[in-house]
Amino acid sequence: MFKDLEDFIKPGSEEDLLVKQLDLSRLPRHVAIIMDGNGRWAKKRKLPRIEGHRVGSKSVREVIETCARLRIEFLTLYAFSKENWKRPKKEVATLWRLLEEYLKKEDKVLVKNQFRLKVIGEIGDIPLSVRKELVRVEELTKNNKRLTLVLALNYGGRDEIVDAVKNILKEKDMDINTLDEDKFSRYLYTAQFPDPDLLIRTSGEFRVSNFLLWQIAYSEIWITEVFWPDFRKKQLLQALVDYQKRERRFGDIHPPEDHA
Ligand code: IPE
Ligand code: IPE
Ligand code: MG
Repeated sequence: MFKDLEDFIKPGSEEDLLVKQLDLSRLPRHVAIIMDGNGRWAKKRKLPRIEGHRVGSKSVREVIETCARLRIEFLTLYAFSKENWKRPKKEVATLWRLLEEYLKKEDKVLVKNQFRLKVIGEIGDIPLSVRKELVRVEELTKNNKRLTLVLALNYGGRDEIVDAVKNILKEKDMDINTLDEDKFSRYLYTAQFPDPDLLIRTSGEFRVSNFLLWQIAYSEIWITEVFWPDFRKKQLLQALVDYQKRERRFGDIHPPEDHA
């Protein structure tokens, strides 16, 4: 077991049994999560939706820490979609406030643990005070080498593709015949990150809700009924165990030796 996991996973616990099933040398490089079900979690407990978001931020902390201890390199969290502006003003304001509080409080933790924060999405339309915090923490953590935490904020996958096309059209010197997938992907918000190997969605919904449309072409998808506020290290470890049982063929046949 990684030394980092020793004081984090209780011996003999369910988590411990899951870690023992993992091949730590074959973990995904990049995990992306659609964190869903905060509202339903709260409703089930007759609490305001906002309470679901508040407890959901504890899941965020635990999942970040687990990924870092496992030495997963990239974790992308879908925290606010372009479509989420349709929600009641008060809920939208609370979501941004929780994020601002998180950044103000957790910045030291991010620095101490060598995490690097990156934001993807339409940053310009995020409330100014939150934007300032995001820029500050991105700057503060930019040289960190451990886990890269990518927050998708005011993010829309279709929008990202349209933005990429607009930027390509601005390139006076580009010979359009040279444009291929690889070059195109360098115009996406995610240009510096590998594609997600594993995409997790909580709360039992079977859809991608405009998340990383281009990048998840070959991601393994794992869906759990568990609502986001209940998603902790156990569920993440289960997703990783299941991921390692999948055979990623990328259109090829397996085993490769079967090629005549
Ligand atoms: C996810 O939980 C949080 C965000 C989308 C910001 P929801 O708020 O969507 O919770 P449900 O889907 O209504 O239960
Ligand atoms: C997706 O969840 C967006 C985030 C997790 C930020 P939603 O709750 O907004 O998605 P839909 O509306 O159920 O598709
Ligand atoms: Mg939802």
